[in-house]
Amino acid sequence: MSPMECHPLLDHLARPALETWEGYRAAGGGKAFERAVRHSTPEAVRADIQASGLKGRGGSAFPTGEKMEAVARASGFPRYVVMNGEEGGPGGFKDRFLLEGSPYLILEGLLLAGYASGATQGLCVVRRSAPEAQRRLRQAVEGLRAAGWLGANILGTGFTFEVSVEIGAGVFCCGEETALLESVQGRRGYPRPRPPYPSEKGFRDCPTLVVNVETLANLPLIIDRGPEWFRSIGRADDPGTRLWGVSGHVRKPGVYEAPIGTPLAEVLAQAGGPREGERLAAVLPGGAVSAFLPAEALETPLAADTLAAHGGCLGSGAIIAFSDRCCFVQVAQRLAAFFEQESCGKCTPCREGTKKLREVLESVSSARRKNGGEPRRGVGREVPPPRPGELLPLLIETLARSSACGLGRAAGTAIGSALRLFPEEFAAHFQRHECPKRICWS
Ligand SMILES: Cc1cc2nc3c(=O)[nH]c(=O)nc-3n(C[C@H](O)[C@H](O)[C@H](O)COP(=O)(O)O)c2cc1C
Repeated sequence: MSPMECHPLLDHLARPALETWEGYRAAGGGKAFERAVRHSTPEAVRADIQASGLKGRGGSAFPTGEKMEAVARASGFPRYVVMNGEEGGPGGFKDRFLLEGSPYLILEGLLLAGYASGATQGLCVVRRSAPEAQRRLRQAVEGLRAAGWLGANILGTGFTFEVSVEIGAGVFCCGEETALLESVQGRRGYPRPRPPYPSEKGFRDCPTLVVNVETLANLPLIIDRGPEWFRSIGRADDPGTRLWGVSGHVRKPGVYEAPIGTPLAEVLAQAGGPREGERLAAVLPGGAVSAFLPAEALETPLAADTLAAHGGCLGSGAIIAFSDRCCFVQVAQRLAAFFEQESCGKCTPCREGTKKLREVLESVSSARRKNGGEPRRGVGREVPPPRPGELLPLLIETLARSSACGLGRAAGTAIGSALRLFPEEFAAHFQRHECPKRICWS
């Protein structure tokens, strides 16, 4: 089977009427939780998840079974499971796709996670800009309750679990797990230092499993088909498939699924490849927190170690393609503006560093625009810095080393890789005040 033919989540999503309880049951849904809660123990479910090797799909790629174990062993009650559906990064839409496509699958994953970790309440945080996902999930919660799968003594087994649907803060920084927990408690969405990790001290200071939507979607499949099945897909050190939200300059942007380790080129080919008359110049294989891969490296397998070799990461499955018609200085400016806007402002390196990053990158072209297309004299004094090519790597390194959370640490990753991949394009802007492609100054 070619990698692109292995897509268990998309196969499930292709079944009809999954947004109804009847449709979900007809598609074989619910079997995993029913069997677990009636015939298995939380320890056995945790053992299966551990054995499957499943790692979180939200960006940190931490083993899900280990996190469940930590919550189950933590002292303090009640325990919570929080579904992270904030999904605020550029090109992020695969979680919304899952929630809209099969809300009961996510809830079944949540029930399994709750049962395995000894939790009694689940909170589903859905991104603010996804009203249809919120509506379908709320409807599914009512459907589950009507079927006797929520509340006290579920299916007469003694297991009690409640679920609420919460609307996310609508900002990228609140996808970080500690900021998410703050925001969902009505507080300012600032991240806090870890440890203590949420598994020890999370929602209302109680043990909490924070888990991504796609991670939850995998749980019923693993419990139903067994950990060996899951381990047989993908890579030995990172099994299973991932959903890839492909956007940018491809013919068919959308959600695709392939085993971890599939070459990026194969996923891009599924998305139709470059648009008519264009050539791909670079791709961000893990969204804005990742590093650009040049066109020559598109055969790179989509896996943590292979992307790390290029300075990047898998992120949360957003693949953004850029054609040769892009000005990468302009792309870098937009990335910097995004991180500046999304920085929560709590720590100085990120608050000031992202602002400075944007200012330095904008100074090279805004100078021309303000002066009717001609470089402005004395721009070095009015709009610092004097040497952007030297200052940018320093800023990026400072951000990476001293920011308090992953947002600041990753804010310069893509920009730094663009500087390394397209030195001439940047030099033309910085030294000669020229955009070789005549894009950002036209
Ligand atoms: C700035 C930032 C944004 C994040 N956004 C998300 C998000 O939208 N969804 C998500 O599941 N994880 C996000 N994460 C990762 C979470 O902190 C956390 O690792 C994840 O929700 C855990 O779930 P998992 O183990 O299933 O991946 C983000 C992290 C950072 C630093």
